[in-house]
Amino acid sequence: MKKFLQDLGSCTAIIGAQWGDEGKGKVTDILGEHFDVIARACGGANAGHTIVVNGKKHVFRLLPAGCLHEGKPVILGSGMVIHLPTLLEEIATLKAAGIDLLGRLWISGAAHILFDFHKDIDAVLEERRGKKSIGTTKKGIGPAYMDKANRNGIRIERLGEDLSEDLREKVTSVKEMFGVTVNIEAELAALKEAQILMPRIVKSLPEMLRDLMLSGKRIVIEGAQATLLDLDHGTYPFVTSSSTTAAGALQGLGLPPRALTSCIGIAKAYCTRVGAGDFLTEETGETGERLRKRGGEYGSVTGRPRRTGWLHLPDLIRSSFINGFTAINLTKLDVLDAEKEIPVGVGVDTKGNAMMKKLAGWETSTCGITDYAKLPANARLYIEFIEKSIGVPIRLIGTGQGREEMIVR
Ligand code: GDP
Ligand code: IMO
Ligand code: MG
Repeated sequence: MKKFLQDLGSCTAIIGAQWGDEGKGKVTDILGEHFDVIARACGGANAGHTIVVNGKKHVFRLLPAGCLHEGKPVILGSGMVIHLPTLLEEIATLKAAGIDLLGRLWISGAAHILFDFHKDIDAVLEERRGKKSIGTTKKGIGPAYMDKANRNGIRIERLGEDLSEDLREKVTSVKEMFGVTVNIEAELAALKEAQILMPRIVKSLPEMLRDLMLSGKRIVIEGAQATLLDLDHGTYPFVTSSSTTAAGALQGLGLPPRALTSCIGIAKAYCTRVGAGDFLTEETGETGERLRKRGGEYGSVTGRPRRTGWLHLPDLIRSSFINGFTAINLTKLDVLDAEKEIPVGVGVDTKGNAMMKKLAGWETSTCGITDYAKLPANARLYIEFIEKSIGVPIRLIGTGQGREEMIVR
């Protein structure tokens, strides 16, 4: 672990290499102990990051999973769209668990407020798309970023102001375009409750980060969503509305590209996707159901069953390039323990179908193993085949949900 931590340097980003839910939260939680500042950069409560600490499950939506480490500053970046009642709820849940976060939380004033009417618009747009629906989380993400890009969003920095006029201005256009009623009273009441967050708002996040970096603080950035869901580089239009890559994380915080000293790509040992869109290596039958059951592949935000299938190496190679992964965490290796053979997508044929190579399974438990040498030979062959194909070292391997169930190489 010591060597791994040294190699990460002073600023690392944890970025999903597939379609999300790879296990980013678990790595932030583990690294949070060794870093000084824990940040999220983009996205909103469409994220669902589950970690298990001492057998207790914690689910995070807006807060980075690493926030459990007492005393460390936690940052919500400028690239985020924040549903304030959800944030208050998360803070309250932590408080109930004995963790006082408020005094060390910092929210960029440039982050946007996601209102309830954004959620209602999300639902209407999905309905209108009919058969072409994206399968969004219905958390209002697309509509909140629509307002931001349209330059009529409302930033967190305005939390203390009377926003009734701004909301009234929305009423007509939102009704005309989407048939959605903005409940001004309810929105204002939610804003009022959220005023408790006002002392936690940072006027200029880049300045704060500059000071932190100059004083030698180490920063870990928890990515949300994942590369194949990126607005520019993902499987458009079946993507989210933010930049989910390492570059997006830096942009979302206001950090210069050269600040990043390492980037950990998080990839499941197989693959899942929630929502619609291509998934070349998907298993829709019995095999897919088996992976879903073993991996507990049900969305933590929506409870939807995740689609399941196999790794697709061309996607991982592409993700590694886009993000500049310096290391990979292959997660949920234990989920494959009972498989006789493990197919891996190695290319795409002229008809657009995935070309598969079958590797031998290990058919023995890897649950909780923390020493690479103790893994069954076929599991090591599997890992080394992937590593060689991608050209990035697999330095972390997940063997269970728990914080301690991780191999570090
Ligand atoms: P995230 O969105 O990338 O943070 O991932 P999620 O939390 O949505 O989904 C990952 C799920 O897999 C969570 O329930 C984790 O507790 C669980 N998980 C993470 N790593 C491992 C692992 O190595 N093995 C197993 N069995 N579960 C894991
Ligand atoms: P984490 O951070 C998995 C997917 C949705 C949908 C598409 C657009 O937990 O990995 P949106 O609500 O963002 O407009 O939905 O993106 N999606 C995710 N899938 N994990 C996530 O986050 C996701 N966030 C969004 O399912 O297909
Ligand atoms: Mg998730």
